[in-house]
Amino acid sequence: MENMDRRKFLGYLGTGAAALAAASAGLGSLAPSAEAANTADHLFGYDKLKKTKKAQGFFKPVQPSTKDELVLPEKFKYEVIAAYGDVINQQGDTFGFNNDFTLYFPINGSSERGLLWVNHEYINPLFVKGPRFGDARYNLLYNQGGSVIEVYMENGTWKMDTNSKYARRVTGLTPFRVTGAGTSVIGGAVIGTFANCSGGMTLWNTVLTCEENYEDTCDEAGLDPDHYGWVCEIDPFDPTFPVRKHTALGRFHHENTAMGLSKDGRIVVYMGDDVKDACVFKFVSSGKYNPAVGKANAKLLEEGTLYAADFKKGNWIAITLENVEKKAPGKYKSQGEVLVHASEVAILLGATPTDRPEDLEISPLDSTIFIAHTNNDKHGNIHGHITRLFEKDDDLGSTEFDFEIFAAGGRQSGFSAPDNLTFDSHANLWIVTDISSSSLNKGVFSHFKNNGVFVIPTVGPNAGEVYQFASAPVEAELTGPWFTPDERTLFLAVQHPGEETKDLSKPTSMWPHRSGDTMPRPSVVAITGFKF
Ligand code: FEO
Ligand code: CA
Ligand code: CA
Repeated sequence: MENMDRRKFLGYLGTGAAALAAASAGLGSLAPSAEAANTADHLFGYDKLKKTKKAQGFFKPVQPSTKDELVLPEKFKYEVIAAYGDVINQQGDTFGFNNDFTLYFPINGSSERGLLWVNHEYINPLFVKGPRFGDARYNLLYNQGGSVIEVYMENGTWKMDTNSKYARRVTGLTPFRVTGAGTSVIGGAVIGTFANCSGGMTLWNTVLTCEENYEDTCDEAGLDPDHYGWVCEIDPFDPTFPVRKHTALGRFHHENTAMGLSKDGRIVVYMGDDVKDACVFKFVSSGKYNPAVGKANAKLLEEGTLYAADFKKGNWIAITLENVEKKAPGKYKSQGEVLVHASEVAILLGATPTDRPEDLEISPLDSTIFIAHTNNDKHGNIHGHITRLFEKDDDLGSTEFDFEIFAAGGRQSGFSAPDNLTFDSHANLWIVTDISSSSLNKGVFSHFKNNGVFVIPTVGPNAGEVYQFASAPVEAELTGPWFTPDERTLFLAVQHPGEETKDLSKPTSMWPHRSGDTMPRPSVVAITGFKF
């Protein structure tokens, strides 16, 4: 009970005897109770929740912590399945640095063996010396991009299978095909992907990986910045599926993608431009989704309309040459140029500058879209907030919307700097936080201690309440939460532990504390212990 404030306790009292019993036991009550169902049925089809067998059940929230450990609730455990530098296959490829987005692809439908796609966002030259010692440019490009690894559970323990026939790397050195109108500017082929922050899954079982802060690597490696800042598509099962950059989705500092369908069957992709005073975007395909053609649906990401959100008028503005011509005749010569400069064009056309839009996710229960607005110190939004967007008529293809602030960061909620989001099938929103490592445990950030994982039910008696599920090692950010289909395992990427280290002989973190190791290592973990 020590971590429940009075308001939360009264909330439990209001939900009936079962929830009160849970509260008395010190458990975060996330599972729907019979009493709860009556109150929310009419709102979000809460009945659907009661029918699913999947539930995160109960966990006892953790306290904010400054420990150099991944702290989990009682009875939960984690295994490190891959860390920076680990060999991932028989060819000797190695796991890249600063793991971020993770996406689990079941093999034969299994929640205990599958492929895990993992993004590698950037490197820290202090820690990255391989795989070619002395070749800084190669190491810079090789250790970004992504990894396909094969993972499996054996006797309750998750491991990496380095005998996998699928395991491979996609890096800053991999040749890419370019699709869409942007080919008129950057050509049909470019080299490499890097700055891979978060991403998303397509409806046809491929991964979309998002290029975010590409500038530093372009400067260091002497690469054309117009070739980066795109959404890339990769099929983890098929190395013959050409890896590609879809320019129709615009070029900006891409955080992630959230894919859904409009009421008339077109593909809709929501995306954030993670910059202070930047816009929320969505892409709507010209063609309609056809499940029968499988991966040929990738073609849908080559042609469509890119929109940016005007939060004052509640409408989506089309990012087109035609609209630019009305405001600034002659500024750009082609739709390709408009896509290359999508972030500037959005502002030019009157889309709303917002507070670092990072992950967006579509609720599994309704058509509302949750947006992590991390923070923006230019306007005093120090702790960020989560915006919930309601498309007109619940149609993702609509050009009109309304919105609300679903949750606000700060002492009152216990979280600051919401970044990646994911939903479980009970519409609990899982949030990871990214207070910058230079601000952690200082001043107005002291309250939160290390970064963490938080859960907010979006329906039911505890909707809007915040429960802390995990606390990160020193100076780490927790990224890329992703559940297996059975929701018994949560994958999580622990990024940049010990980021403020200045001297390798005095690392500020040694997580994951491997015996004999001399440095902290970004690592992906598998968390188990969920009850059903
Ligand atoms: Fe790479 Fe927006 O975080
Ligand atoms: Ca992020
Ligand atoms: Ca981040």
